Amino acid sequence: MKFFVVCVWGSPREGGNTEFLVKEITKRLDELGVRVEVFNLCRMRINPCKSCRLCLKSRGFCTIKDDMTNILIPRLIEADGLIVASPVYFNNVSTCVKLFIDRTWCLRGLLRNIVGGAMVVGRGYGSELAISAIHAFMLKHEMILGFRGVTGFAFEKGEIRHDRRAIELVDQLANRMVELMRATVKLRRERKIKGSARTI
Ligand SMILES: Cc1cc2nc3c(=O)[nH]c(=O)nc-3n(C[C@H](O)[C@H](O)[C@H](O)COP(=O)(O)O)c2cc1C
Repeated sequence: MKFFVVCVWGSPREGGNTEFLVKEITKRLDELGVRVEVFNLCRMRINPCKSCRLCLKSRGFCTIKDDMTNILIPRLIEADGLIVASPVYFNNVSTCVKLFIDRTWCLRGLLRNIVGGAMVVGRGYGSELAISAIHAFMLKHEMILGFRGVTGFAFEKGEIRHDRRAIELVDQLANRMVELMRATVKLRRERKIKGSARTI
């Protein structure tokens, strides 16, 4: 079966280090026969969660009409895997990534058993906290994690291509995600039967 992975990344600097890692993992997953759709969150119209809490009454329903509801939520519900990639900003993820994370509140239960992967790149400090922020988001959704994440070290645009370790980690993450997606197909099928998503 062909797996479907959504890869979201959030750097305002196109052609930068985060995008490089995203291209690497997309290439690798493609070689492994996985369909990947990639979205640059900083290029999308994603508003902050306004805490109206109407999604508490109707799972999957969000009152904000933007690219999150129109484009990303329908894809996330169908995904077997989700990769979140971010530059390290002030020891954390970038604003674009955080906006995305907060807006998944309406998807409680609907991302369960999706296989997750995190990738971050920074100049040298705070990367572990940024990876942890992504992993915490994934665990809150009861996603399946089986790899420590990709941590790249680079500051100037394109510098990441010299980080051989990060490139190796990308490969390992792709392989591990495929292994876990294969092993957990049945769990996601159950999620789709039970889940009642409304994304109007
Ligand atoms: C606003 C801002 C905050 C940053 N904060 C950190 C940081 O806390 N730790 C770090 O190691 N690098 C930090 N950096 C450096 C970036 O993480 C680094 O340049 C990274 O390679 C950028 O990825 P990009 O090319 O995909 O944009 C920061 C950069 C910016 C613009």
